[in-house]
Amino acid sequence: MSVVCLLSLGRCSTVAFRSSTGMVAVRYAQTAAATAPQPRVKKFQVYRWDPDTVGDKPRMQTFEIDLNTCGPMVLDALIKIKNEMDGTLTFRRSCREGICGSCAMNINGGNTLACLNKIDTNTSKATKIYPLPHMYVVKDLVPDMSNFYAQYKSIEPYLKKKDETNEGKEQYHQTVEDRQKLAYRWMIDSRDEFTEERLSKLQDPFSLYRCHTIMNCTKTCPKGLNPGKAIAEIKKMMATYKEKKSAVA
Ligand code: FES
Repeated sequence: MSVVCLLSLGRCSTVAFRSSTGMVAVRYAQTAAATAPQPRVKKFQVYRWDPDTVGDKPRMQTFEIDLNTCGPMVLDALIKIKNEMDGTLTFRRSCREGICGSCAMNINGGNTLACLNKIDTNTSKATKIYPLPHMYVVKDLVPDMSNFYAQYKSIEPYLKKKDETNEGKEQYHQTVEDRQKLAYRWMIDSRDEFTEERLSKLQDPFSLYRCHTIMNCTKTCPKGLNPGKAIAEIKKMMATYKEKKSAVA
C-alpha cells in the first residue's frame, strides 16, 4: 500500500511511516476518516469599512468557518477570521468574559457582547455582524466611543459628600434595605448627598425622557440587570422632586 494513498485520506501519514505492515496503517487511516466529524461550514457576514482607503464604502464581507475548528462564541469566530483569514478585520475585545464591554456589537439584529453570544449552529443561516447601530464608526466593527465617555463623565459616577471633614474614616453605614436599592446607584445611594443636583441635571428633554421604555437595554443586559426599571424609578424620583420644588416656590 503506497504512502500516497494514505496521505490522500489525511491525518494518518505518521502512522503509515511507522507501521510495520501496510495493512495496519490502512486500517488506522480508514478508522480516522470514518470518525472525522463532518465539516459544519457556517457563513459570517461582517460589516467592513476602512476610512483610510480612499473611496471605500461600507459593505458586507462573507467569511466561511468550519464550526468544528472554532470556539463556541461569535468572538471566537471573529478572532479566527482575524488570525487565519483577514488580519485587517478590526474589532475591540479585552476580557472575553462579559465584563469590559469592549466587544459590544450588533449580532443578528441584537446589540450584545460577542464574547457572550453563542454562534447559532444552524449552518443554513448566515450570522450577520454589524457595529453598534447608534454610534459613529471608526473602522469595521469599532464604534466611536467619544460621546459615550463624555456622557459617562457627566454622570459623576462616584459618591459625593457635602461635608468631607471625616474623609478617610469609615462613616457611611447602610442598612440592608438601602443596599438593595442600588440599581440606580448614585441617585438612590443613601450615602450620597447630591441627589437633588443629580436630578436637576436630568431636567431636559435629552436625558431621562429620551428613554421610551422599549426595554432593549433590559433584554440585552449581559449581567441580567433591569436598567429600564431603574430609569422608571428615576422618573418617579423626578416627579416627586418637581412636586417638592413647586411646593417650595
Ligand atoms: Fe470584554 Fe466581551 S471582551 S465584554
